[in-house]
Amino acid sequence: MKVAALVPAAGQGERMARALRLLEGERDRPPLAGKLFLELDGRPILRWTLEGLLASHAVEGAWVAAAPAWEAQVRAEVERWGLRNVRVLAGGATRQASVWRLMEALPGEVEWVVVHDGARPLVDPTLVDRVLAAALRDGAAVCALPVHETVKRVGASGLVEGTVEREGLWTIQTPQAFRRTLLAEAHQAAERAGVVATDDAALVERLGHPVRAVPGSPRNVKITTPEDLDAAGRWLRPGGTLVPE
Ligand code: CTP
Ligand code: MG
Repeated sequence: MKVAALVPAAGQGERMARALRLLEGERDRPPLAGKLFLELDGRPILRWTLEGLLASHAVEGAWVAAAPAWEAQVRAEVERWGLRNVRVLAGGATRQASVWRLMEALPGEVEWVVVHDGARPLVDPTLVDRVLAAALRDGAAVCALPVHETVKRVGASGLVEGTVEREGLWTIQTPQAFRRTLLAEAHQAAERAGVVATDDAALVERLGHPVRAVPGSPRNVKITTPEDLDAAGRWLRPGGTLVPE
């Protein structure tokens, strides 16, 4: 079994930059590819992400999509962190395009892929191994958490249009794991149909193929705004170890 981690990390981090008021002048941008180089307990977000994935014994290497303008810097940093078996490539205009670039670059012997957002630094091997084990059985699996809050549909006017039945609703995280050939087929079918989705599993669902949901983790937050960085920090003990769930 050959398993590769695919890490889309080619976003612009616009919501983070806006919140930090860094969009006005290029000179004021945070150095090195913006948000994924913001630090959590002294280590850049992307470094946490890659170390978390590679800590799984199942994962043999990671393929990272970086924004083209930052590709060389990301490669240099990854090397400086001393991570082995990490390849950095230029990503695309959407997350989906970035993942597809990585898929195309994989060597032939890779049979299973674990797709994980660069912006989710607190991934750990438990999560990777859990989702991979489910994918080995079912072909495709995602990490998911039950929705605890009331969910409503709100129209463009700001008026509530209705309340969505919460029973059976889950929010979906990465990691997501797939048989490589299945994910390739799903991406190619989406490309032909002009479909762009926010996660990979949606493309597999379109094919009518089952996708298994396994428990994700509340600490596996996606860093979108500065508040998320604070939330992730609350899961860390001094010295960088994780608070048990
Ligand atoms: N991503 C990517 N290629 C893109 C867009 C996004 O690889 N063209 C990656 C991001 O780097 C991130 C993940 O997809 O790791 C989830 O995206 P998101 O959280 O939206 O990050 P950004 O797109 O960077 O943030 P924003 O939408 O605020 O600009
Ligand atoms: Mg985005």
